[in-house]
Amino acid sequence: MTLFTELQRLLGAAQVQDSAQAEALLRDRHGRFVGRVAAAVHPRDTAEVAAVVRLCGRHAAPIVVQGGNTGLMGAATPDASGRAVLLLLDRLNRVRQIDTDNDTLTVEAGCILQQVQEAARAAGRLFPLSLGAEGSCTLGGNLGTNAGGVAVLRYGNARELTLGLEVVTADGQIWDGLRGLRKDNTGYDLRDLFIGSEGTLGIITAATLKLFPLPAAQCTAFLAFASLAQAVAFLSQARQGFGAGLTAFELLSVDCLRLLREQFPASPLPFPDLEQPWYALLELSDHQDEAHARALFERVLGDALESGLLVDARIAESLAQNEALWRLREAMSDAQKRAGQNMKHDIAVPVSRLVEFVERTDALLQRHFPGVRNYTFGHLGDGNLHYNVAHAPGRSVAEHMADYAALSQLVHDSAHAHGGSISAEHGIGQRKRELLARYKSPVELDLMRRIKQALDPRGLLNPGKVLPEASA
Ligand code: MLT
Ligand code: ZN
Repeated sequence: MTLFTELQRLLGAAQVQDSAQAEALLRDRHGRFVGRVAAAVHPRDTAEVAAVVRLCGRHAAPIVVQGGNTGLMGAATPDASGRAVLLLLDRLNRVRQIDTDNDTLTVEAGCILQQVQEAARAAGRLFPLSLGAEGSCTLGGNLGTNAGGVAVLRYGNARELTLGLEVVTADGQIWDGLRGLRKDNTGYDLRDLFIGSEGTLGIITAATLKLFPLPAAQCTAFLAFASLAQAVAFLSQARQGFGAGLTAFELLSVDCLRLLREQFPASPLPFPDLEQPWYALLELSDHQDEAHARALFERVLGDALESGLLVDARIAESLAQNEALWRLREAMSDAQKRAGQNMKHDIAVPVSRLVEFVERTDALLQRHFPGVRNYTFGHLGDGNLHYNVAHAPGRSVAEHMADYAALSQLVHDSAHAHGGSISAEHGIGQRKRELLARYKSPVELDLMRRIKQALDPRGLLNPGKVLPEASA
């Protein structure tokens, strides 16, 4: 029997699609990667996932797991060989348990992130992972890629929000590690190995997540700065002034706001004149009440305005205004997509070296690629910038993209030289895997390879992702 018919027999014909039926799932969001598969399958529970893995093992068929297919690195797109099975966890979408005494929530990997947030809210709690794709990305994908987003500054990445996991191993066993413990110091941390492994070490099928109190009030403002150095200096003041209440500090350059105005002319900008070079979206969460939040917010912003650190501030006066400011920030991804391809870089450097990184890299870019335009934005509080570079006026997108290897290397070398990372929150996938050979030490790469060998000795889980070719 072929693998396809065996999968049909195992799961029922309705749960198994061929490459043509699954075509829409076989390309990534930006159409950069396109693959083919032997089958795409929709198991109904963890036991079925394990059975699929065992069956694929018997046929030596690779397995690629896919959640909402919103990733940017091609981690969830199979190769073109047509040998892989695409494993979709959309049927594993149950909330298994909410424990408000323990402040934990146990959910399956196929839940959409927004559903997880809503389940927490319905129980009077906050699940703080938050990113632009939250309406379609899944928790499994968030954990597989250790997603970041806009609340990392206060609550951490997906990894920091996870207490326990259920994982199907490469040989089709089920590891029940769904522990809701804040303290569990009993040997190697397997949970943290699987999180961020992009489906190359095991298949995450469920997770026990941390919940937090819902804030009593939130204040949001759009801020204007005369320089990036002033934005960084104000970040430090805001941390002091707001303490743990500082939940977001999202940076946008003036060129990003121009791009938003160009692409979404119906959305008004908080500063229509765009006179300053840098802007930020700031959010304070408060556990007392509206009046307390507002007084604190106005005091910290007022002090910064008085000292000249802040040029101007627009405080949201209503929920609708708050949402409009956030929509603007979250539209950056789509605005770039509409404007045509640019070169995306998801770098992180220590906040203390951020200004130097931007100044030096901007200057280097202009020296080697005159006229290119920077769209620099991102999560300033985490030192994580989306340092994106679009074509110079007068050059086509295709001409610009032909410089991708050289230009990206310049940016990544610069991030590396500033003590930084070439992938802060988007992962490695297939897009950046060869870069690891350049930026990770041989010792680190060797340790990663030995972990892969130990957990997936036949190399059937998401081959061609994360780890560079062995010869590299
Ligand atoms: C963001 O912060 O908006 C995303 O991580 C960047 C992107 O989608 O390119
Ligand atoms: Zn981001």
